[in-house]
Amino acid sequence: MCGEDFANHVALVTGGASGIGEACVRNFAMAGAKVVVVDLNEAASERVVAMAKRAGGDAVFLPVDVSDPAAAEGMVADAVSAFGRIDFAVNSAGIGGELNQTGDYSIEGWQRVIDTNLNGIFYCLRYEIPAMLATGGGAIVNMSSVLGSVGFRAAPAYVAAKHAVVGLTKAAALEYAPQGLRINAVGPGFIKTPLLMASLDDAAQSAVAGMHAMGRLGEPDEVADLVAFLCSAKAGFLTGGYYVVDGGYTAQ
Ligand code: NAI
Repeated sequence: MCGEDFANHVALVTGGASGIGEACVRNFAMAGAKVVVVDLNEAASERVVAMAKRAGGDAVFLPVDVSDPAAAEGMVADAVSAFGRIDFAVNSAGIGGELNQTGDYSIEGWQRVIDTNLNGIFYCLRYEIPAMLATGGGAIVNMSSVLGSVGFRAAPAYVAAKHAVVGLTKAAALEYAPQGLRINAVGPGFIKTPLLMASLDDAAQSAVAGMHAMGRLGEPDEVADLVAFLCSAKAGFLTGGYYVVDGGYTAQ
């Protein structure tokens, strides 16, 4: 629970059906916001919408593939028609993608990761920004990763996309800072979500946990609490930043 009061605010969360996005939806709902849950996974989204309503917020589901620019445009139009405005947008939809060294990486695998994790964030921003400016601004949080500032073997597309998300965040933040629209990026360490757990057996999980100074994986709520802070009035002077929440991963 983030402790913020987001009554009368509208939050849109891409990738809201699972993991970090789901935790963001829960925080927004518990703080009284109306939430637009955007995802490809309809069954999981319906469960999250029901959870958000039980938590005290109102919520709707929009089935959207963020890697499709027309779908991203429709997403923003549908969100505004559902709740009248967008105050906060969390662009969290993402995939892990193929694990292969750069010299072996498939062209299709590269395009898939870039389409979702980088182009998808641009398409969302492209339509979120004008809609949010039209109602006076707000806050956008783009989901990068610790791999937005350091490398990692066998994930070149993911690392490239997450670095690019940090650059895109800075570029857009400069453009809209005078108009009351703050745009920041978050860099989680390895977080216990379906995306991560599906790709790691027990031995790999403890090896990855050991890469963090705290010797453990992060929890989705630990990322969602930072996202809620970045959206809140307490973060009123924060824009264009990249904030890690990583148990010391990038400190060593
Ligand atoms: P997750 O797999 O639990 O949730 C991702 C959600 O995004 C899923 O519900 C999925 O259906 C949705 N999604 C995927 N592609 C989509 C598309 N094209 N259009 C709409 N929805 C789509 O993953 P998790 O771990 O919560 O990841 C969320 C974000 O956090 C991702 O951007 C990921 O790269 C990032 N991240 C995750 C870390 C981790 O260790 N889990 C660490 C650092 C960053």
